[in-house]
Parts: sequence; structure tokens; C-alpha cells
Amino acid sequence: MSDSDRAPPGLLRSVPLFAELDDAAAAALERLARRRAFAEGEVIVSEAERGDALFLLLSGKVKVVLYGESGREVILSTFKTRGDFFGEMSLLDDEPRSATVLASAPSTLLVLSRADFRAHLARHPGVAVQVMTELSRRLRRADAVIGDLALLDVLGRLAARLRDLALADGEATPEGRVIRNRPTQAEIAGTIGASRETVSRALSELARRGDVVLTGRRLLVRHRLLRGP
Ligand code: CMP
Repeated sequence: MSDSDRAPPGLLRSVPLFAELDDAAAAALERLARRRAFAEGEVIVSEAERGDALFLLLSGKVKVVLYGESGREVILSTFKTRGDFFGEMSLLDDEPRSATVLASAPSTLLVLSRADFRAHLARHPGVAVQVMTELSRRLRRADAVIGDLALLDVLGRLAARLRDLALADGEATPEGRVIRNRPTQAEIAGTIGASRETVSRALSELARRGDVVLTGRRLLVRHRLLRGP
């Protein structure tokens, strides 16, 4: 492994998953981890393949997707915060990869082999608890999405999605929260189980009602939508 592939010293302790490690344990793990760059659009793990590594996001953005038979993409999640991890599921349950993960922007990842990750979990129960905490958080989110899919129409799902986005990424202004670089209609469609055309119509309806204001990639979500149904 060349030096440029190695994890810089101190890096692992800077991500929540490994924050509790002592110096020796963090240094040992850093010697095992490799750094890898992925171009925008590059597939990092493929659904149904055998899983052989865990990935930690250092920079960039990745999306977790499923593809329907027609090629339609369903976006399960997006990771863009340094320290976000993925690829743990198949390492824990020995099943194939549950989804495809690809870089939606140029990204740098830290890669830890299956054997090193599992050995590490066995030695450091605190890291295992962190992984379980994150899995619970993802399951809660998935439960909320299942509930929305079953209980809300497309307009309701779009409103819920824009509310979540605005609360997570939006900037507070007197009129509401502004998302500066909103996802495309196709990306939104992929997260709420609708076609792009349906999302386009629903967005126009929310704009007509005065719940949102669209200006290019800028999206203002007004207070009344942020308060929820
Ligand atoms: P694994 O199944 O090994 O490979 C695909 C990865 O995508 C999976 O591990 C998780 O890390 C991630 N993933 C799958 N489903 C979800 C989800 N609903 N939310 C967030 N991440 C997911």
C-alpha cells in the first residue's frame, strides 16, 4: 500500500464511529484502512455482490439505490457527512449487498476489509454499539418512509420530503428555509416512489398553493409547509 493510500494519522478518531478508540487501537486500524477515490457516477458496491469491505466517507457524496426492472432508480439514502459509513450490512449478516452505492459527486472513501472490520467489532464493543445505534436510526427512517408510502399521496410525500430536506440542509430566512442547490426532479422522484412527471406536477401544485417558491435550483420552503400537515 502506498503512503497516499493510507489513512492519515488521527483520521479515524475524527469520525463518530471510531471516536471512542484509544490511540493504540485507532493507529492499528489506520494501518489497515486504505483510502480510495471514486469519480462521479462510479459504482462503489453493487447490489447482490458479495460484500468484502466497509466504507467510510471522507469527502464527497454517495447515494444508496435500488434499480427496478425497467431501470427506474429508487434512492434509499444519501450520505454526505464525513464519517458516514456503509457496506456494514453484508459484513454483519453474510448476505449479498442489499443495494448499490455509487458516488453522486467525486468522493474519497476509507475502505476496511471484512476481516479487519469484524475483528475490530469483536475487540471493541463500543464500536459495535455505535453501528447498532446507526442501524436503528436507519430503520426508523425506513419505517417513516414505508408509512409515508402507504399513507400519503404523492403531494403529501413530496411535501414531507421537502420538509425533511429543508430542515436538514436549508438555511433559515424570514420567509422560510432556503435550499440553495435542490435535488433534481428525477432525484426527488427516486426518493418518494413517483415518476419525474408526477413530481413536476406536484411541485407546481405546491408552488401554486404558495407552500414553496422555485427559482432555478433555489427552493424556498415556506413556514406553513415546515410546520407539517
Ligand atoms: P450492504 O448491504 O453491505 O451494501 C449496501 C449498503 O447500503 C448497505 O450495506 C448499507 O450500508 C447501505 N444501505 C442499504 N439500505 C439502506 C437504507 N435504507 N438506508 C441507509 N443505508 C442503506
